Amino acid sequence: MSNYHIKHLEEYYKVYRNSVREPEVFWEEIAEEHFSWRKRWDKVLSWDFKKPEVKWFEGAKLNITENCIDRHLRTKGNKTAILFEPNNPDEEAQHITYNSLYERVNQFANVLKDHAIKKGDRVCIYLPMIPELAISLLACARIGAIHSVVFAGFSATALSTRINDSDCKMVITSDGSYRGKKSIDLKGIVDEGLEDCPGVETVLVAKRINSEIDMKEGRDKWLQPLLNTASKECEPEIIDAEDPLFILYTSGSTGQPKGMVHSTAGYMVYTAYTFKNVFNYRTNDVYWCTADIGWITGHSYIVYGPLANGATTVMFEGVPSYPDFGRFWEIVAKHKITQFYTAPTAIRALAKEKLDFVSKYDLSSLKVLGSVGEPINEEAWHWYNDNVGHGKSPIVDTWWQTETGGIMITPLPYVTPTIPTYATLPFIGIQPALMDENGDEIIGKQVDGRLCIKFPWPSMARTIWGNHQRYKETYFSAYENKYFTGDGALRDAVGYYRITGRVDDVIIVSGHNLGTAPIEDAINEHPAVAESAIVGFPHDIKGNALYGYVIMKEAGESRDPDNVRKEINQIITEHIGPIAKLDKIQFTSGLPKTRSGKIMRRILRKIASNDILNLGDTSTLLNPEVVEEIIDNSL
Ligand code: PRX
Repeated sequence: MSNYHIKHLEEYYKVYRNSVREPEVFWEEIAEEHFSWRKRWDKVLSWDFKKPEVKWFEGAKLNITENCIDRHLRTKGNKTAILFEPNNPDEEAQHITYNSLYERVNQFANVLKDHAIKKGDRVCIYLPMIPELAISLLACARIGAIHSVVFAGFSATALSTRINDSDCKMVITSDGSYRGKKSIDLKGIVDEGLEDCPGVETVLVAKRINSEIDMKEGRDKWLQPLLNTASKECEPEIIDAEDPLFILYTSGSTGQPKGMVHSTAGYMVYTAYTFKNVFNYRTNDVYWCTADIGWITGHSYIVYGPLANGATTVMFEGVPSYPDFGRFWEIVAKHKITQFYTAPTAIRALAKEKLDFVSKYDLSSLKVLGSVGEPINEEAWHWYNDNVGHGKSPIVDTWWQTETGGIMITPLPYVTPTIPTYATLPFIGIQPALMDENGDEIIGKQVDGRLCIKFPWPSMARTIWGNHQRYKETYFSAYENKYFTGDGALRDAVGYYRITGRVDDVIIVSGHNLGTAPIEDAINEHPAVAESAIVGFPHDIKGNALYGYVIMKEAGESRDPDNVRKEINQIITEHIGPIAKLDKIQFTSGLPKTRSGKIMRRILRKIASNDILNLGDTSTLLNPEVVEEIIDNSL
């Protein structure tokens, strides 16, 4: 029996049990029946969470683009693979068929080869949501180069840090990008970032906004003329199952962003299998995930997962508010979208607008609604369910992470009964565990704890680029023999999971992961700032917003506080990007610290959230008196 598409709850439980009882047998069957391999594996799985080392399908050889493109050509050559919807609704949508994707990926791959990119080289991609973005990922994969996509909202400094961390030889970018009414000078940001990146030899520039830009002689090349003369055939490089497919950076609670390394075969198998089941994808469906390909959601569920299933996947260049707040729903109606996958922050923003923006469109094509990136609150869930799904499209609240590569805890639509705010059940093969403060697993129902995963799954990140020790310390040291997610969760009476949020110093703002340390480092660069601490506080639309407590240097105390606030946000924008700007900045003479000198963020978090009756014991602090001052001046 094929377990590829699960259709009933009993079937889910049965397949789940099998997948846990005999993981190797289970994954071998999925891999064997649904993908194309150049050589079969010698061993399905070997693992050791102590080292940590995990290998799936070791010895197998493949190319992921053969699975995402070539093998569909015979039966689906003229089917739309990528449906591109531009920022401006007056510009025509583009239907890129599998045949055309094949040619465009090969041409792009040949251009990469002509510029000395070889298997294992790192290529940084800094592009807006235009077809070249998806195509460049696949072109890298075609020749075995490792792509490192940097979200095109990140600043020049953030870009150069990421380029240097993984020694990228090439950057692929565009002259600029459109975002609603605005256009952004992407190439200018790249030029600034590259001042600190001596290792970059070539910059390929796609033309999107036709702006005047500087082209650096010998380094910068327009992409289109190179593509025009490149061959439409490019033999795929044959890749080992465990060879890296890509690096994608994510914030940690401390230090520099972590370059999560994803391997090829396991990632392919898991993203494809989850895509099929979590979205109940069927042959003629038109699937749309609104994420940017600069995040893991876009990698796994705009590019690789859908294409591995021969699906039609939509890429949207614009924003939900342009030309008005009905844009998402206009696109759903126009392209008869069947699966729609977005983030709670977008739902909350749209729910604030007039209902007419959504009710005037025919959304009857929708069959599945998805949510990802942060907990979805009950109000947003109901708005989504009532006004978008009209109560007939199940909502899949999918919990996962950059590190997990694919969806881990989720309902399956038309299979798992849903409850608002619950991510519900582990996906096939996923073995969650809740842990207590002593490091013991909490068994049973109606319990809460820290969420770990106790058995490997195929798409887990294999390491942090250039820093395996950090990978071990971050994910495998808190609890013995378990992957620690950094999230808290509860398990209810029927075994459903509800994610309660981060238990570390990562704050999720509008679905974006932000570490406190890099933001504090940026603030401390301000000449008038002595020290700072960032916490999250609840925000109607963003889920969380950032609250900064700042101690000024003596010399800075005569400055106009509002000017300093503006300058601080400017510095954050330059170092990280506008997504990390602070909503509130409070100046203070001190920060609550433990006797060992650690900032007690728990107290700051409560004050920022207006929860001052539950501060807990403050008497053990080094400087308890500062708490009163902070409460008195809180914003
Ligand atoms: O805290 C969890 C939250 O987002 C974190 C992972 O962020 P990132 O690596 O950027 O990946 C986001 C897209 C997969 C998690 O540790 N998170 C993600 N999805 C959910 C969620 N929290 C609650 N419910 C979710 N559905």
